[in-house]
Amino acid sequence: MSQAEKLIIFDTTLRDGEQSPGASMTKDEKVRIAKALERMQVDIIEAGFPIASQGDFESVQAVAREVTGSTICGLARALDKDIDRAGEALKEATSARIHTFIATSPIHMQMKLRMQPDQVVEQAVASVKRALRYTDNVEFSPEDAGRSESDFLCRIIEAVIDAGATTINIPDTVGYNIPLQFGELIRSLRERIPNSHKAIFSVHCHNDLGLAVANSLSAVANGARQVECTINGLGERAGNASLEEVVMAVRTRQDVFRCDSRLDSTQIVNCSRLVSSVTGFPVQPNKAIVGANAFAHESGIHQDGVLKSRETYEIMRAEDVGWNANRMVLGKHSGRNAFRSRLQQLHISFGSEEELNEAFARFKELADKKHEIFDEDLQALVSETRDVDERHAARLVSLKVCSETGETPTARIILSVEGEEYSGKASGGGPVDAAFKAIECILQTHSNLQLYSVNSITSGTDAQGEVTVRLEKAGRIVNGQGADTDIVIASAKAYLHACNRIVLPAERAHPQTGEV
Ligand code: KIV
Ligand code: ZN
Repeated sequence: MSQAEKLIIFDTTLRDGEQSPGASMTKDEKVRIAKALERMQVDIIEAGFPIASQGDFESVQAVAREVTGSTICGLARALDKDIDRAGEALKEATSARIHTFIATSPIHMQMKLRMQPDQVVEQAVASVKRALRYTDNVEFSPEDAGRSESDFLCRIIEAVIDAGATTINIPDTVGYNIPLQFGELIRSLRERIPNSHKAIFSVHCHNDLGLAVANSLSAVANGARQVECTINGLGERAGNASLEEVVMAVRTRQDVFRCDSRLDSTQIVNCSRLVSSVTGFPVQPNKAIVGANAFAHESGIHQDGVLKSRETYEIMRAEDVGWNANRMVLGKHSGRNAFRSRLQQLHISFGSEEELNEAFARFKELADKKHEIFDEDLQALVSETRDVDERHAARLVSLKVCSETGETPTARIILSVEGEEYSGKASGGGPVDAAFKAIECILQTHSNLQLYSVNSITSGTDAQGEVTVRLEKAGRIVNGQGADTDIVIASAKAYLHACNRIVLPAERAHPQTGEV
């Protein structure tokens, strides 16, 4: 593939995706997702914003150390301290990129930066030069480019390319642009900027008007050769362009686009599930490519057509994006080796033999209640206990719930914390409410419940319910997940998971607002 035909996929799930309220991820979770992105052959992984917090710094460092098949990128404002921190975090990367940005729209320059345009150009150039001390792979973004004046964009972009930036990313930071206009912006920048041929043009679109993917594709049709996107379209506010939609649109419509990515699309569904289970953001059933209904044909006419010839109603093959790839079933007679080897195939690993043994015990417990165990069940089984400090975590010992027509539901719960057992009892509006109150009466987290959702992991009445709980405390938001064939128990596990996480310290700065 020539350079002109290559579409670079830049994934920012771990950075912009993590800026979704409630989507914060631990270092281990980030490494797991980064490895899945590497397997999918994503070209560049934006692993975080190292100056934001010690945790962000260590996450970028860990991803840089452990992922060698993709370029690892760190975000930095156009400030020396940010760039130095990013350079430090990326020191051990096999291939590193620094992504530096400064706002260029009149409203951002005046109201946020309180800087004159000349100062902004000067700071942008200085930052690119500073980033070159650490790597020759430097990306520059004029933040809020979608609302910037095009003459000013031409001026600053020409200057940063002269300074050594090799990728110019055009963000539609607030999701304001419309496809025709955004495509035209990319075309005109490439034509008007004299040294534009020395850089790759990239786009980074937000979805406030539901146009992030359409805007990205319009940019690709007009010469952009890098798209910044996230798994499941996760991201700040309404999210970013969804990776799976961009990749499959370009690949499916090769008659329109003169380029393609190197992405292994068969990994898409797995990545989507992993991100959904780590963040607790469920994928809507009618979501393109990765929604449960994306390849389901309900109507008789459609089913008949697909049976005669699948192209009548299908423009892509479900297996090409990873549906049905891993549905091997385990059951109550499956032994430890079958369990271990299936987890290995799903790229799930454990820190110690003891953790594997515990997971196997939970698997056996589940297999007693549920006839067939699918890959989705296994993923849920392991995500429940990850990312909390096991030594101090509260664990569910038992839960008894009484619920009867006309009676107030009550719950009695026993938790174990650092080897000691505690019991709590509460009544509530329903059995789930009673169970949450009983937990709160022991743990006293004083957090607010922001979201409660239940999804069936697989089909059938013996399916596990997967529950997501979102808690807020002093502005900090965390998600917890729990799965069980009994949804009240699944709910209690999810609530407990979130409670265990909300006690972990996490202070970090937001890259664009600077707020902690
Ligand atoms: O949306 C945006 O402008 C960003 C930049 C940091 C690229 O996320
Ligand atoms: Zn963004």
